[in-house]
Amino acid sequence: MAEQETKKLIFSGIQPTGTFTLGNYIGAIRNWGPLQDEYRCVYCVVDMHAITVRQDPVKLRQNSLQAYALLLACGIDLEKSILFIQSHVRTHAELSWILSCNTQFGELSRMTQFKDKSQKHPDDVNAGLFTYPVLMAADILAYNADLVPVGVDQKQHLELTRDIAQRFNQRYGEFFTLPEPYIPPVGAKIMSLQEPTKKMSKSDTNPNACILILDDKDTIIRKCKRAVTDSEAEVRYAEGKDGINNLMTIYSSVTGKDFAAIEREFEGKGYGDFKLAVGEAVADHLRPMQETYAKLIADKAYLKECYTASDAKALAYSSRIVRKVYRKVGFVDAN
Ligand code: AMP
Ligand code: TRP
Repeated sequence: MAEQETKKLIFSGIQPTGTFTLGNYIGAIRNWGPLQDEYRCVYCVVDMHAITVRQDPVKLRQNSLQAYALLLACGIDLEKSILFIQSHVRTHAELSWILSCNTQFGELSRMTQFKDKSQKHPDDVNAGLFTYPVLMAADILAYNADLVPVGVDQKQHLELTRDIAQRFNQRYGEFFTLPEPYIPPVGAKIMSLQEPTKKMSKSDTNPNACILILDDKDTIIRKCKRAVTDSEAEVRYAEGKDGINNLMTIYSSVTGKDFAAIEREFEGKGYGDFKLAVGEAVADHLRPMQETYAKLIADKAYLKECYTASDAKALAYSSRIVRKVYRKVGFVDAN
């Protein structure tokens, strides 16, 4: 990455906790590919964050490899970017300790994700769940990232990262870059197919609410056909037509057609035709990615080659930064 150091550095992480949804894809992952030409991109499968809630070890390993292969299939190009596995790069845990000594108990107690997750899992309010945002700060600061693409739910953690970085800089001298949130220019919010005022989420208990990016064509079409709409029969983007608006957003995202063109295309046609068209367009759009994914996940040796190379680059880059942090806090040089 050294020769391109004038380009800004983007860091983002995604948890390997199950197959990504169409929402993750349209709102986040699909936008990661095009960033690679403009920025130096460092992407990470954050398996260490995943274990802050109880995970089945066999499943976690599978999910981590699946997430890795899916990100490659969605367009992350290892000639341009780094895509590594968090637990393989020790600097994240190392820096996390130092940053935790520069983070206040009160700050972490105010994090809404901590409050939500402790309510959801009252039998396992572990220390890792509490210090989760410190590890996230370490992910970002170990690369001195300029920009971090995150959804709104992670904005509070990013603000805390800035506060921690600023405090460190005050105590030990200017060192860390204060990272900014990066909101992609495109990247619509996709809503649940069953309750279109709620975000589409893989934790939804109704399987029809959410399209997974590995769903087959029949499943995708079935879910679209069952999507909740309204009692009119007009494909038109308008207030109060949340279900249709959401389907139009999805259709537009995968075909590139604008709302006016979609309205013309379905003039005089019913919702049945429209839903079928949306299902088919989504399935057709996802198919090449699914085919690439199938090849990648069947080739574990290739995947290993990919992450081993990226792990090494991530370690080399972040070690330089963490070594300087060790000096700044007053640790004796190791060699
Ligand atoms: P999550 O699965 O909630 O951890 O989110 C991972 C990334 O996907 C974040 O950048 C979110 O903003 C994005 N994302 C998740 N769900 C949606 C959705 N329904 N619409 C748009 N973006 C989403
Ligand atoms: N906490 C993020 C989420 O749940 C994942 C994450 C971990 C992350 N480390 C990060 C995101 C660093 C951006 C930068 O979505």
